[in-house]
Amino acid sequence: MEDTEKLHKKVKDILYSLTGITLSENKDIMIANRLHKLRRDTKFKGDIDDLLKSIQNEENFVTEFINSFTTNKTHFFREDFHFEDLRDRVLPDFTKSGQDIKMYCSASSTGEEPYSMAMTILEANALYNSRIKSSIIATDIDTKVLQYAADGIYRFSKSSKEFPDWISPQKYFKKRVKKGIASEEILIKVKDDLKRMVTFQVMNLSDSAYPFQNHQFDVVFCRNVLIYFSAKDQNIILKKLFKHLKIGGTLYIGHSENPHELINYVQRVGQNIFVKVKDFN
Ligand SMILES: C[S@@+](CC[C@H](N)C(=O)[O-])C[C@H]1O[C@@H](n2cnc3c(N)ncnc32)[C@H](O)[C@@H]1O
Repeated sequence: MEDTEKLHKKVKDILYSLTGITLSENKDIMIANRLHKLRRDTKFKGDIDDLLKSIQNEENFVTEFINSFTTNKTHFFREDFHFEDLRDRVLPDFTKSGQDIKMYCSASSTGEEPYSMAMTILEANALYNSRIKSSIIATDIDTKVLQYAADGIYRFSKSSKEFPDWISPQKYFKKRVKKGIASEEILIKVKDDLKRMVTFQVMNLSDSAYPFQNHQFDVVFCRNVLIYFSAKDQNIILKKLFKHLKIGGTLYIGHSENPHELINYVQRVGQNIFVKVKDFN
């Protein structure tokens, strides 16, 4: 085996043991770039093998390694039909029953997804003239993106269409003025009311168990994260998540993901939208 091949295999093994993420073939350029960045970020002066040894022995730079190898692409109201389903099918039941809704976002990245969940609740409250109370727990393995999410400051191009027509961003964000920002860009900060609706915490989906109660959540978002795991591990994660979803609760998964063995325990009600009908035993 060539040196680069050996090095990349070691990276893949460490990544898998720490996160469960399986890097497919043809990721050589990505691995090389991220190792380069990791070295720069950690200011590690020694040999790359020594850096990996330190991570492997869980001595140093474990967090930096994990943060370097996650892919955090996300945006507000990604796959917006999921939020429309939440507004039109799920939330009306809570306006009627007066019950609190408990939601979980299992790979929240920089926060756009859980803040979109929170905005959807506030929009539904306005639409149905209701006061649904909610709690939203949002987790991710990457501490850097969690900090970003908690800060709640987003930058995007003025010409990009970040929000669907049914959302008025000025209700939920303050414009920020900052020197050095390009004229075609805009900087916005999440208002405190919205921020208070979401609790961010670090969690690894590969952990053997999750820190939640059985049947704790009415809604679970697990989108665009399963794709980073092998089919076997996707199934294991889904089964663990499923325990925490109430019967009648809704599971949303990403556009190229599937519910694996849960298929016999759910009813499909929309595009990658599943309602739990019974527990998995
Ligand atoms: C591509 S983003 C998806 C974000 C969002 N769910 C969406 O659909 O837009 C994937 C996220 O999964 C997180 N992730 C990867 N492996 C994880 C693990 N083992 N446990 C928890 N989060 C993980 C990454 O840090 C990253 O922020």
